[in-house]
Amino acid sequence: FAFTAANAAWAQLQIAKYPAGRQASAIIPLLWRAQEQEGWLTRAAIEHVANMLEMPFIRALEVATFYFMFQLQPVGAVAHLQICGTLSCMLCGAEDLVSVCRQKIAAQPHSLSDDGKLSWEEVECLGACTNAPMAQIGKDYYEDLTAEGLSDLIDALRAGDVPQPGPQNGRFSAEPLGGAT
Ligand code: FES
Repeated sequence: FAFTAANAAWAQLQIAKYPAGRQASAIIPLLWRAQEQEGWLTRAAIEHVANMLEMPFIRALEVATFYFMFQLQPVGAVAHLQICGTLSCMLCGAEDLVSVCRQKIAAQPHSLSDDGKLSWEEVECLGACTNAPMAQIGKDYYEDLTAEGLSDLIDALRAGDVPQPGPQNGRFSAEPLGGAT
């Protein structure tokens, strides 16, 4: 693994934001950029970032394995679905969403679908509990999901569409926060 020239230059700008000897503080943005470049974080990418930041590989690996935002296995070419399985979402039907993923993507999390387009995993609370159950796909939240709705969403992703993120039951407010003025 090596950063592209543009990404390497960008990485140096991030490192320069921190005092000498504190370059390890740039670990998260550099890992994130490596993942954006490759689609997921290979061991070689983590080693490369660790070397750039002059930190032990194990410390970079600790960060990469701590956050759900980092993927340590290949992900679907079109989308990786992260289904929240924490309390609010579980009470509102997260198990049904996981069942849909098992049926329509792959029986096991972190596995690619047969067409290579999709993958999924269950994650902890994503902070959108009021719109449970929900899933993160890429950088977007899809909330107030039903099993049927998620199934349709997966079909749309497979077909190359980008479904509208946000609450899937239409509960957008037409009024500004605090009510109409
Ligand atoms: Fe699912 Fe918080 S419990 S977003």
